[in-house]
Amino acid sequence: MRAATVMRKAYSVAEMRRLARRTLPRPVFDFADGGAEDERSLRRNESAFEDVQLVPQPLRGAGTRDLSVRLFGSTLSLPLVIGPTGLSGLFWPDGEIAAARAAAKAGIAFCLSHASVCTLEQLAETGAAPRWMQVFVYSDRGFTRELAARAEAAGYDALVLTIDNQMTGNRERDVRNGFTIPPRLGPMEIAAMAAKLPWLWRMRRELKRITFANYVREGEAADLRTLAQRMPGLLDPSMSWSDVEALRKAWNGPLILKGVLSRTEARQALSYGVDGLIVSNHGGRQLDGAVTSLEALPAIAEAVAGRIPVLLDGGVRRGSDILKALALGAQACLIGRPQLWGLAVAGEAGVMQVVDIYCRELDRAMGLSGISRIAEIGPDLIHRPSRF
Ligand SMILES: Cc1cc2nc3c(=O)[nH]c(=O)nc-3n(C[C@H](O)[C@H](O)[C@H](O)COP(=O)(O)O)c2cc1C
Repeated sequence: MRAATVMRKAYSVAEMRRLARRTLPRPVFDFADGGAEDERSLRRNESAFEDVQLVPQPLRGAGTRDLSVRLFGSTLSLPLVIGPTGLSGLFWPDGEIAAARAAAKAGIAFCLSHASVCTLEQLAETGAAPRWMQVFVYSDRGFTRELAARAEAAGYDALVLTIDNQMTGNRERDVRNGFTIPPRLGPMEIAAMAAKLPWLWRMRRELKRITFANYVREGEAADLRTLAQRMPGLLDPSMSWSDVEALRKAWNGPLILKGVLSRTEARQALSYGVDGLIVSNHGGRQLDGAVTSLEALPAIAEAVAGRIPVLLDGGVRRGSDILKALALGAQACLIGRPQLWGLAVAGEAGVMQVVDIYCRELDRAMGLSGISRIAEIGPDLIHRPSRF
């Protein structure tokens, strides 16, 4: 679809999702869209925002609005970060590179997933910044350190340690659709893909070379099947604070924990020298039944008491959702699926459109609430009915 058409048709994140659903083969769409088991956390991530109501004060006067924020030493044009999503290259050729370029043009940060189709060095070559690198604690601790060292050498601005993926979540849509990594190419799968010809045509060369590029080692098999089989053995559910301590020593820049939902862990993070927290249940893709990030946020913000930035991830679908998250104590929000929907529809232009939607909606929500600057967003914006 041409960029101009996308602009016209994708006027909201929900519409972008609808267009992505039409564009992608069902198993690929569901791979991104789905959550774990009964998808309770996934649904509640979004619906939690419905339970929060805003109290505008229009007479404060907000003739002009400044949406910019400072985060980990960089200025962002709005408090939004593109979160790490593995295999973005399945949605658009060189998907990670397209999304990072869009983020840089829009003036926001981009976080590369450990499971990117390009290497972290290839992404860095685009010059897109600020760029963050996401890693796990691996059973081979040396590999975690190796990725951190590579990220440092490639000039990444922050390291994100995801702590809620120590085992892979049970994503039943993938089971139902027979979706595997790498995509199986049996008659059913080919039929599903053939029904989405523009995507298949775009991806005809890419599908063969999709892999977890950061994991490829010289002299080892580089194909996705071999790497995907190795992956569960790489993860380590016995990870602990000593691993955070070790990574703190190995990485000099900002170290951010992603997947924090407990106020106890938030408090502990401070004593381990962590520089930022991402309140997240992994978009409902890991522990189904985990508390929604928005509901976990206030206690974590209180525990941290402004000493380090707290970011909110999961279910952010409107600019006003960013406003709500900030009023409840976040400094910025991350988006996962929405940028993948933009990518699927129009590559870099689609991601730019998604960021632009959030920007325009946040600007309007601030204007209607009587807020001129991000720093003015506070708890007084939240309706607290006496019945609660
Ligand atoms: C297809 C897909 C792949 C993901 N891969 C990763 C990953 O590699 N590392 C990670 O920390 N989070 C990963 N996530 C989780 C996102 O970073 C983020 O937490 C989640 O999507 C936020 O929810 P949202 O999609 O409602 O914005 C992935 C999410 C999706 C949808």
